[in-house]
Amino acid sequence: MASKHLSLSLLIVLLGLSSNLALGQVLFQGFNWESWKEKGGWYNFLMGKVEDIAGASITHVWLPPASQSVAAQGYMPGRLYDLDASKYGNEAELKSLIEAFHGKGVKVIADIVINHRTAEHMDGRGIYCLFEGGTPDSRLDWGPHMICRDDHPYSDGTGNPDSGEDFGGAPDIDHLNPRVQRELIGWLDWLKTDIGFDAWRFDFAKGYSADVAKVYIDSTEPSFAVAEIWTSLAYGGDGKPNHDQNPHRQELVNWVNRVGASSNATTFDFTTKGILNVAVEGELWRLRAEDGKAPGMIGWWPAKAVTFVDNHDTGSTQHMWPFPSDKVMQGYVYILTHPGNPCIFYDHFFDWGLKEEIERLVSIRKRHGIHPASELRIMESDADLYLAEIDGKVIIKLGPRFDVDHLIPKGFQIATHGDGYAVWEKI
Ligand SMILES: *[C@@H]1O[C@H](CO)[C@@H](O)[C@H](O)[C@H]1NC(C)=O
Repeated sequence: MASKHLSLSLLIVLLGLSSNLALGQVLFQGFNWESWKEKGGWYNFLMGKVEDIAGASITHVWLPPASQSVAAQGYMPGRLYDLDASKYGNEAELKSLIEAFHGKGVKVIADIVINHRTAEHMDGRGIYCLFEGGTPDSRLDWGPHMICRDDHPYSDGTGNPDSGEDFGGAPDIDHLNPRVQRELIGWLDWLKTDIGFDAWRFDFAKGYSADVAKVYIDSTEPSFAVAEIWTSLAYGGDGKPNHDQNPHRQELVNWVNRVGASSNATTFDFTTKGILNVAVEGELWRLRAEDGKAPGMIGWWPAKAVTFVDNHDTGSTQHMWPFPSDKVMQGYVYILTHPGNPCIFYDHFFDWGLKEEIERLVSIRKRHGIHPASELRIMESDADLYLAEIDGKVIIKLGPRFDVDHLIPKGFQIATHGDGYAVWEKI
């Protein structure tokens, strides 16, 4: 049993190293839930932040969904080719922003919302089910045949049954329809070649199968892709997450396996996010799983995991699953020193005054060459202390316990510290 596990993790490490992801991304979510309200437009506003973002060694910036949408934030898109009706700004402003990031060597991730789509016109029965693509021709002009037949409450769909979970707010698209696949691939290619996007973030990716995602990823070969597969952790009778979150992270691993280890596809590490939320509140023992590894997806397949502290849903003004606000830096110490592909949230960096602290951590990550598949050795994980060494070069401490100096090996010196954390580096 043990040797089987060992060889499996070895294989996973080798697969991780063989992909381009071994180079080490530092991602940045460049918006929050309120960004669409920015006077003068978010794209124009973000233009003024390009220098700061690039200066922090960020490699990829994730922008909000760019297409015309019934909901201001962009997550209820209709005319996919229409980038002029976005609340964030128009197509020309978007292209200028992308060019500005490219000019600084930063890649740009598009938020791809394709699980569902809002219709433009009613049919004869008064049901909204006729779509418009936003082009003068018929591309993406769809009808009930492109909606899943088991979609609710949009039950006029006549397509295949949904290959994933239902999304309640809008018609779920039938991704098994060859025309749907062909025209969405065409749209993704257009986002790449005409608009300049480099990579994809797949919204509500549990709404269609991994096999479907694979079609889009294989056909468009993004330099990076990350899927949002957000499911609940398992909770016990005490209202807290169970110690065993293996089924939760297995689902993320399965998705990547299905899409293909050699693709550039990753998933957000919602397992790490959920456990970290609780662990920093005096339960740091949670940060070592029974197998001695990190308890999130990064414990099993870090090269394919995107770690984060909060995003526009979990944090921002929605607060669906917020990180304890006074412990946010401990979250960043964890994700920015650990294996995985860390993603920094706009709000923490620019609005919470944490820019310098976060930058120091990114520079430590860079200086010591910490990468998505770096080696993690957990030294202590107690209620009030988490101590871990990464690649034998960096040691971090989380938690309120102070008397830890005797636990730090010779040859390490303090690199930075803050409220509830310290980081040492090898001299
Ligand atoms: C992965 O991304 C690299 C660029 O970083 C690209 O050259 C390559 O084609 C991509 N691989 C796949 C399988 O899409």
